[in-house]
Amino acid sequence: MAISSAPGKVYLFGEHAVVYGEPAVPCAIERRARVEVSRREDGKLSVHSDDLTLDGFTVEYGVSPDERPDIDVSESLVTAAMGYVDGAIEQVRDVTGNDDVGFDVTIDSDIPLGAGLGSSAAVVVAAIDAATRELGTTLSTEELADRAYRTEHEVQDGQASRADTFCSATGGAVRVEGEDCRSIEAPDLPIVIGFDGGAGDTGQLVAGVRNLREEYDFAADTVAAIGDVVRNGEEALSAGDLEEIGRLMNFNHGLLSALGVSSRSLDTMVWAARDAGAMGAKLTGAGGGGCIVALDPTPETETALSFTPGCEDAFRAALTEEGVKRI
Ligand code: MEV
Repeated sequence: MAISSAPGKVYLFGEHAVVYGEPAVPCAIERRARVEVSRREDGKLSVHSDDLTLDGFTVEYGVSPDERPDIDVSESLVTAAMGYVDGAIEQVRDVTGNDDVGFDVTIDSDIPLGAGLGSSAAVVVAAIDAATRELGTTLSTEELADRAYRTEHEVQDGQASRADTFCSATGGAVRVEGEDCRSIEAPDLPIVIGFDGGAGDTGQLVAGVRNLREEYDFAADTVAAIGDVVRNGEEALSAGDLEEIGRLMNFNHGLLSALGVSSRSLDTMVWAARDAGAMGAKLTGAGGGGCIVALDPTPETETALSFTPGCEDAFRAALTEEGVKRI
């Protein structure tokens, strides 16, 4: 048996635009997915999870490799999670040359699913790491991030950047621009998260931005403007200028909103955070529902969010330097 865990993340800047080659800066947070893997002799894959959301629900799912159903990622969040595990195991079979190997996989995650905190990337990173180690192979962090990216790319029909998976594999704050992924310095960030209890469909949201960008030059300019915000954000991060980081997060949210990926509940939480005195607030991840990220060293934002209609959970999340962890 092998066990690995990997962190979720928030986007400080740059989601969606990163899909078109602009830079993005996600940073890993101390909410983790833990995956336990045991080799099976019969070649079957069985996936079990008791708790894939903050609320928790149970799913059991077992398939043999040649009887695997077509998985529609939008079908349900749970089926989507199983699709990611299935894809991760395919990568493990490929990288180890063990085409027929089967596994029992148990997922235990405190990252809400599809809510912009990188749940799928964390599950995929931890699953690939644990399953390869179960077969006696330890991947380098770069190879692990690459295999996890390939999984997301395939499951999301070719619409994925390297940002989520690289960040989850390495931990810390990272900068991703196309194939170029690296760790960057970030100050101690007073991160507060608001969660509306819902989720967005990443594939649909990415496709929506793609269509807008193809239809309107000003939508393409908006995507490019997000790239400019990110470049300014990097300078603010290296200067440790929290006020400026917050201002740029606000700007980034406005541009994402213009691209149609915010929602009423995300906007409500963003404004509740700003009204409570947060230095800045924005949606994180694909949008459409899920989480916002705000910066506030005081307890005000967390308290205000917990009383905001439509906000199901508000919590602090520390940046973690620890990526994949072998347990
Ligand atoms: C989703 O967490 C972030 C997006 O930029 C898609 C991606 O980068 O793969 C919307």
